[in-house]
Amino acid sequence: MGTRVLLTGGLGFIGSHTVEHWLRNTDWEIIVMDALRFSGRIERLTDIECYNPDRVKVVWHDLRSPIHNQLKETIGPVDYIVNMASDSHVDRSITHPVPFVQNNVNLSLNMLEYAREVQPEKFIQISTDEVYGPAPHGHSHVEGEVLRPSNPYSASKAAQEMIAFSYWRTFGVPLIITNTMNNFGERQHPEKYVPMVMKRILHQEEIEVHGKQRPDGEWDIGARVWLHARNHADAVQFILKNVPIKYYDDDTPEPERFNIAGEREINNLEIVEMIGAILECPPLYKLVDFHTSRPGHDLRYSLDGTKLKEYGWNAPMTLEESFDKTINWTMKHTEWLTE
Ligand SMILES: NC(=O)c1ccc[n+]([C@@H]2O[C@H](COP(=O)([O-])OP(=O)(O)OC[C@H]3O[C@@H](n4cnc5c(N)ncnc54)[C@H](O)[C@@H]3O)[C@@H](O)[C@H]2O)c1
Repeated sequence: MGTRVLLTGGLGFIGSHTVEHWLRNTDWEIIVMDALRFSGRIERLTDIECYNPDRVKVVWHDLRSPIHNQLKETIGPVDYIVNMASDSHVDRSITHPVPFVQNNVNLSLNMLEYAREVQPEKFIQISTDEVYGPAPHGHSHVEGEVLRPSNPYSASKAAQEMIAFSYWRTFGVPLIITNTMNNFGERQHPEKYVPMVMKRILHQEEIEVHGKQRPDGEWDIGARVWLHARNHADAVQFILKNVPIKYYDDDTPEPERFNIAGEREINNLEIVEMIGAILECPPLYKLVDFHTSRPGHDLRYSLDGTKLKEYGWNAPMTLEESFDKTINWTMKHTEWLTE
């Protein structure tokens, strides 16, 4: 039997790019487990050009409940587990913090219990740069810095990490934690920044660009490092294939952890202008103070991607190619701009 990977959250945005990338670049069999919650869409898989149902098994299961025996048989043996499922919308974590956090914590606990039983070769916990809280100007977080989550979403991701850490230490679950930053690409939920900006530009509606006004009247515009979800998928594939598991001992107090970072930082206004240029349509925008309009949101995130690069990983797509591909594909599939 060839390699079999269990991917939770595979009907979500990054999950679907992961399935697509692995269909094109591996011979792995992929078992997608998803509950089709608010952001999940089956079309994310069926819209993939190279979609091959012989290599992808989709299993509906809400991971707030444990994986029962019948489901274990349906899944079959697995070599790798990539735990990507999560409620992922920061604003929703602020309006409905309790069910949001409970979902993310319980789903991780249930996946870790399953991993503890089936003992895969590797278990990757997908996490976010937001667990570190805002990155001060000029600083990019390196692996292992203190976690200072600002909102219930990032706290729930930090909780996932810490529970996984304890299963690594206590039960020997072969854990690698990855932290990534703002992903974008085709088939993203229209609430997210890139499709939202596209939609507003196409409808000639004003876009709010968040920043902080300095006493001299100038603005520090919010900034992120963006990467195409295909680059993220490639990095996870690289880690699964190339990075050995570190097991706990006196000299190894922490599991392996990697930042999956984008190419360079761009501010929210540059993105609006870049998308406007590709669409050949000038954007309308206004600058808004991020503290008053979005409590719990951070002005800047940044991760240092050196560790994974030194291991030998290089992103397959540049930032410009990524934006061109995303905008042009979405213009041919405008149904993905509809909520
Ligand atoms: N999108 C980003 O820019 C970004 C950045 C950093 C980290 N991440 C992390 O990457 C992962 C994927 O993000 P995304 O943008 O694709 O999210 P998404 O919201 O598009 O997809 C998440 C998927 O998880 C599924 N899910 C949620 N709760 C579940 C449950 N209880 N049982 C089964 N399935 C469940 C949803 O149905 C959905 O299909 C998340 O863990 C997120 O925290 C995302």
